[in-house]
Parts: sequence; structure tokens; C-alpha cells
Amino acid sequence: MGYAMKRNEGFSPTEKKEHTVVHVPLGAMSYDIIIGERVLAETGAILSDVVKCKRAIIVTDDNVASRYLHRLTGSLAAAEIRCTSFILPSGEATKSTDQLLKLVHNILSQEPDRHTAVIALGGGVIGDIAGCAASLVLRGLPFVQIPTTLLAQVDSSVGGKTGVNTSYGKNTMGSFYQPKIVLIDITTLETLPKRELLSGYAEIAKYGLIADAMFFEWLEVNANALLSGNVDLLTRAIATSCKAKAEIVAEDEREISGKRALLNFGHTFAHALEAETGYGPDLLHGEAVGVGMVLAAALSERLRLCGQRTTTRIREHLSSVGLRTSLREVREMWNINQLIAHMAHDKKAEHGALNFVLTRGIGSAEIVKNVDKELVRDIITEALQ
Ligand SMILES: NC(=O)c1ccc[n+]([C@@H]2O[C@H](COP(=O)([O-])OP(=O)(O)OC[C@H]3O[C@@H](n4cnc5c(N)ncnc54)[C@H](O)[C@@H]3O)[C@@H](O)[C@H]2O)c1
Ligand SMILES: [Zn+2]
Repeated sequence: MGYAMKRNEGFSPTEKKEHTVVHVPLGAMSYDIIIGERVLAETGAILSDVVKCKRAIIVTDDNVASRYLHRLTGSLAAAEIRCTSFILPSGEATKSTDQLLKLVHNILSQEPDRHTAVIALGGGVIGDIAGCAASLVLRGLPFVQIPTTLLAQVDSSVGGKTGVNTSYGKNTMGSFYQPKIVLIDITTLETLPKRELLSGYAEIAKYGLIADAMFFEWLEVNANALLSGNVDLLTRAIATSCKAKAEIVAEDEREISGKRALLNFGHTFAHALEAETGYGPDLLHGEAVGVGMVLAAALSERLRLCGQRTTTRIREHLSSVGLRTSLREVREMWNINQLIAHMAHDKKAEHGALNFVLTRGIGSAEIVKNVDKELVRDIITEALQ
């Protein structure tokens, strides 16, 4: 996987602007991801040009609204796009059927037509619920993602999965619904808490680990500088991650061939850890993925798919940026039976069998089905010693 991306001279002929553009090739559903430092200010011009909408409904959360909503509404007004905004409380609890229904009713009350765009301005929570609402109203309104967390910029805003949580589990209600465009203004990361930034970084490292050894090597050298806010390095890491996800999604948009499952490296463990810690502030998603990738490497090593060096490199790198890499750093005590039960009930598990994405070395991942539960128990037990 290379780092090639096209430079775009901008959407307005009157001003010279430069963005990095990653194309997501999905036939008639293809779209671009625009990455840059002035993207929010230029959103109005970009949407007039690409989506050609005259009306927009912005969905955001209270944290993001106070910081960035005025920049977006100003930009839309300058392009003569009329807009309203719907501000939800921040946090995972917002991804509920109740909030989804409120949002759908709010959009319907504004009498939208098929050209009214729904814009998600926020992290993965907002992207998931707004995308779900956009897919439902009038059987689909044009949807625009403006992700403002690193996790949303490199993962949740790309690929078209939308949804909310139900009493039957996380993300159990939703749809595949591709955005018309994804607009990433990296200056929004300036206000993102460091923990949230690191949580997103774990997903960036994941792309190197599953498909691109050179990218992982580059991250080993540059991670700390990019996490300190170096704009060029951040742009390159975000673009490379989006390109990696786009390539996998283009091959397996609806998770049929199994290719898309590679994106779940570290996630079988991570989902179990999150289920145990309640999907809350104790353990953020990317933090769980960091610990999960180290456990997946240890399991791969035990199955002789990779050598000890791979596990050590993964652990050392994640730890060097400040991510927790062991179960004990998260909690002293874990209920191992409960963790295994969560893994067997994971929505990607088939008939209770334990399936994992494992590593054959940095840059190479594969799906291994029906892994022996006792082996998984051993790996967790050893990790706790
Ligand atoms: N659809 C997908 O493919 C996909 C993939 C991965 C994760 N997800 C979902 O994404 C969600 C997690 O996303 P997330 O990590 O972005 O969480 P989030 O949306 O809860 O955002 C994290 C926190 O950061 C705040 N925030 C957002 N942008 C900010 C900014 N620029 N400055 C300051 N604060 C800001 C938010 O208000 C929130 O408090 C989960 O619900 C997960 O299921 C979806
Ligand atoms: Zn993830």
C-alpha cells in the first residue's frame, strides 16, 4: 500500500486551497474524503459544488457544538445553504433507539426533500446515529460526515456502517449507508482530549499491522511527533489510514467475503473488554483495541503464526505513545469466564465459535476460525500473571 494521493487545487476558482483527497471507489456510491486544515471553513463551498444542496440539517453533540458549530454554520451561510442544527448530549448513551427516533422526527418536522443534506459534525457517536437517521428519512437523504475525533476521522466516518445500540447489544440496529463526502478538518483535533486522540491512534496503528508493514515502521519513527500535532504527519497518517480502510471496504462493502473482517484485528478481545467495562470512560474503544491487539499477537505467537518479535514490537510501540497494553493496567481482576462468554456472543462469532483476526507478522493478518477456548483462556491467564 503506498502513500500516493492526489493534491486538489480546491473547489473555488477564486481562492487557491490545498487539500489531500482520498477516493473511496464504490461504483455509483463512490465518494471522496477531503483532509486539510481549512476544511470546515470551506464546507459550504465544497457542498455547493459536490452535493449541490441548498438546505442542510446539522447533527452534533454539545461538546462539539460549543467549539465548531459556528464555523460550520458560517461557512454554509456564506455559500447560501440554509441550515438548522440538532444538538444531542455527548456520549455513547446517545446512540439509542429513543434518540434515533427523536432525531428522525426532528428531521421530518422540517419537511425535508430528497436534496436536504444531513451533516454529522462530531465523533463516531454522532456519525453513527446521524447516518442511521439519514438512511431512514424518506428512504435516504444525502449524508455528509464531518468527523471531529481521530477515531471517527480514520475509522467510523469511512465505510458506511451506521447504527445505534439496543437492549440486545451494541450496534445491533442500523444500516450500510455511504456518505456523499467525508470532510476532515484536522484542526478540530486541537481540542480533542489526549486520551481520545490516543484511542484513535490505536486504529491507525492497526492499519499498519494488518496490511502495511512500511506504514507501521513509519509510525514507529513518527508517532510521537504526529500525536503532538505535527500537521503534515497527522495528515499523512489520517490519509494512509482512510486509504487502507477504503481499499478493504471497496473489496467487501457489506462484510460478505470476509475481507472486511480484517479490520477487526484486536477487536474480538477488545469487544469483550468493553462489554466488561460497560462501554464507558473506564476503557475507550481504541484503548481496548490496543490491549486487544497485544493479546491477539500473543495468541498468534502461541499458534506459531508469528514470532515473539512481532508481539514485542506491537507492545513496545503502543506503550511508547502512552497506550495501555496489558489487561492488568486496565484492571487488577478480570472474570475470565465472562470474557470468553462475551467473545462467544460477539455478533461476529458464528454459533459460539471463537473467531479471531490474527497476525503472521507486522503487515500481515488473517482470519482464524474456531480457535480452542482453552488456548484463549491460557492467553488471558498468562496476561494476568
Ligand atoms: N461506523 C463505524 O464503522 C464505526 C467504527 C468504529 C467506531 N464506531 C463507533 O464510534 C463511537 C466512538 O466514536 P468516538 O471515539 O469518536 O466517540 P465520541 O463520538 O463519543 O467522541 C468522544 C468524545 O469526544 C468529544 N469530542 C468530539 N470531537 C471533539 C473535539 N474536536 N474536541 C473536543 N471534544 C470532542 C465528544 O463530545 C465525546 O465526548 C462508538 O459508538 C463506536 O461504536 C463506529
Ligand atoms: Zn475499532
